[in-house]
Amino acid sequence: MRLGPLQLETNLLLAPIAGYCDLAFRSMCRRWGGVGLACTDLLSPQGLLRGTATSLDLAKTDDSDRPVGMQLYGSDPAIMAQGARWAVEHGAAVVDINMGCPVDKVTKKDGGSKLLTDLSRAMAIVADVRRELDRLPLPADEWSRRLGPGARGPSSPTPVPLTCKMRLCWATADFEAGRACSPDLASRLADAGVAAVTVHGRTTEDKFQGTVRLDGIARVVDAVNGRIPVVGNGDVREPIDAARMLRATGCDAVMIGRGALSTPWIFRDAHAFLVTGSVPPSPTEPDIIEDLRRYFESMRAQRDDRYALFQINRRVSWFAKRLGHTDPATGEPAALSVKPFKEAVRTASSPAMVHDAFDRFIAGELRGGRITHASAAE
Ligand SMILES: Cc1cc2nc3c(=O)[nH]c(=O)nc-3n(C[C@H](O)[C@H](O)[C@H](O)COP(=O)(O)O)c2cc1C
Repeated sequence: MRLGPLQLETNLLLAPIAGYCDLAFRSMCRRWGGVGLACTDLLSPQGLLRGTATSLDLAKTDDSDRPVGMQLYGSDPAIMAQGARWAVEHGAAVVDINMGCPVDKVTKKDGGSKLLTDLSRAMAIVADVRRELDRLPLPADEWSRRLGPGARGPSSPTPVPLTCKMRLCWATADFEAGRACSPDLASRLADAGVAAVTVHGRTTEDKFQGTVRLDGIARVVDAVNGRIPVVGNGDVREPIDAARMLRATGCDAVMIGRGALSTPWIFRDAHAFLVTGSVPPSPTEPDIIEDLRRYFESMRAQRDDRYALFQINRRVSWFAKRLGHTDPATGEPAALSVKPFKEAVRTASSPAMVHDAFDRFIAGELRGGRITHASAAE
């Protein structure tokens, strides 16, 4: 996957998911392998420029998090350009503009997917951000630092590439009438020096309902006509979904969001599937728990205990979707309820309680009975 001057290691990208894809989680997905690029959650340029603690926490990155994109949202071209400068000065290998967020708080201020209703504003933002990035070329040695061992970068001073992430259009009726703005917008973005576009195959009105509209992504691919890569996004939960997305739309790369919340190794699996046609064996339960432990400890180190507990309490249900598939006594495949484990982590009020639940799970405890049709339906 080429992204302007950058050659990414794979064509699989971790999506921004506000409140979830922090540094600790991005590093977790990267440890399993297969992640070509990961992106911060949406960042407020005003917050970054003022140095508010929340924005700085969200923008945190380190050497385990290479290459990283930083995503900005907003509607003021000059402020977005200043935000882009901040991102380049703080480690971004890619700057992304959010043109897809459907949340009121963002669209009421004309940012996110509201830009899909005002393409001249969207293009003005892109022009100002692109101009600012062009003023800040990075030397080759800085590129090798920002890209890490897997990706390859330019050998002479080169500016950071700009990408945009969008939905198909605002109104579903427009999409159904063949009037989605995304093909035209993507084509104009390619002319304006944007290095790639990501398309979540839903309209703003769809929010997260229904299934991804692969034909909508395909229309963007046709419009761009090979000038820049198109990244398809939406509903990739299994490696085969990534293959289907690539085949059905002709897109160049796939971005995965919610699928990674339960399966942080989905990039490893999807990459293997795309290259070899088969999926590696699932990680063992002790491996998964060890990785969760590392993730929890990273959050404690990077933020604090309160944040780490909040995240692990609310996210254990996602992670637990891949647990309970092995009988700890025999090592044979099984379908065991992990409700007691989920409950223990969900209600843990200290780091010691979280680690105790991890220890007990590895020791074969905190499992319910075998899942029957009746209990699975509960
Ligand atoms: C809770 C939540 C928060 C999200 N936050 C962002 C965000 O900050 N920036 C963004 O571009 N997209 C955001 N998205 C959209 C995802 O990046 C992605 O486009 C969408 O979830 C579809 O992909 P998926 O089916 O692989 O999750 C968010 C989605 C969810 C569910």
